[in-house]
Amino acid sequence: MSQFWSDIVHELIPYTPGEQPKVQALVKLNTNENPYGPSPKVVAAINAEVTDSLRLYPDPNSDQLKDTIADYHGLSSDQVFVGNGSDEVLAHIFQGLLKHSRPLLFPDVTYSFYPVYCGLYGIEYETISLDQHFEINIHDYDRPNGGIIFPNPNAPTSIPLELEKIEALLQKNRYSVVVVDEAYVDFGTESAVRLINTYSNLLVTQTLSKARSLAGLRVGYALGHSELIEALIRIKDSFNSYPIDRLAEAGAIAAIQDVDYFEETCKKVIATRESLVKGMEAMGFVVLPSGANFIFAKHSSFDGAVLAAKLREQNIIVRHFKKPERIAQFIRVTIGTESQTGQLLSALRLILKND
Ligand SMILES: Cc1ncc(COP(=O)(O)O)c(C=O)c1O
Repeated sequence: MSQFWSDIVHELIPYTPGEQPKVQALVKLNTNENPYGPSPKVVAAINAEVTDSLRLYPDPNSDQLKDTIADYHGLSSDQVFVGNGSDEVLAHIFQGLLKHSRPLLFPDVTYSFYPVYCGLYGIEYETISLDQHFEINIHDYDRPNGGIIFPNPNAPTSIPLELEKIEALLQKNRYSVVVVDEAYVDFGTESAVRLINTYSNLLVTQTLSKARSLAGLRVGYALGHSELIEALIRIKDSFNSYPIDRLAEAGAIAAIQDVDYFEETCKKVIATRESLVKGMEAMGFVVLPSGANFIFAKHSSFDGAVLAAKLREQNIIVRHFKKPERIAQFIRVTIGTESQTGQLLSALRLILKND
């Protein structure tokens, strides 16, 4: 606390990111990173960019990257906005498209950055309870709103929402922007991108942090009608003209273009997820159906916090959320390599045996 803080700083409740431990020897399954490195073509492209040209500012519009993303998704470049991680893209969306006199709607159990952005930008919001299966029920969103946002698959529950339901939501809310945060979509969830040319109120965000193994590069993007994109460009150019640096642009282009590597990585993660789910269910865990690179699971004999602490004693970090209370029993586990998954299953067996 300081006399120099503005009122807004006093009031902020910032987001708490998952731990990035300084110790190397841990099995790190807490922040939904990809266990495999990025494509070798990404590393080569970044290395090639490490030249004297770094003295120059990057392209403020990231045109080459936008063209590459547009080509990949079958859209035009004016339907693409890029930013420093999808968190930054989301921040601009909240400020530029979701602040209205009616409240923004999002699930009660969801990405915990959403209420933080609302606090930062003074956006009124209402949370809508997930149903008893932890699923989004679109009928519950049938109320006056100034926008709707949810991740698909949802986080931290990992459960996907079918495309027909998203389309029904878009039809019912023609006068608000519906944002589908597809941070984890490539791990077995159907994308809403193909609805973009039909619904001018749809905005989809994606990231290179998860399926393309580039959490450290900080590149995310939004796809939607050019008028929605224009709002984001106006915010960006009033905030930071160069969110994508030269190395990030080179690496991101190479990542989007290396489709084979991306598909191979996603396949491996999905296969490991399936074997982890089987292993945990065999031990009595309830695992919610996952379309993501993480699972959300609970065991009747343990509180989630206790389980996370016991795993930590065995050098394995997973994520536990104390709130809301409904999910306190659960742990969120990022899908690691086959070998990390084996270590996790052995550690869980030991914990259950000693109970
Ligand atoms: C649902 C969701 N959306 C967006 C993000 C932000 O991703 P990034 O800023 O790395 O693109 C995350 C990060 O974990 C997430 O879980």
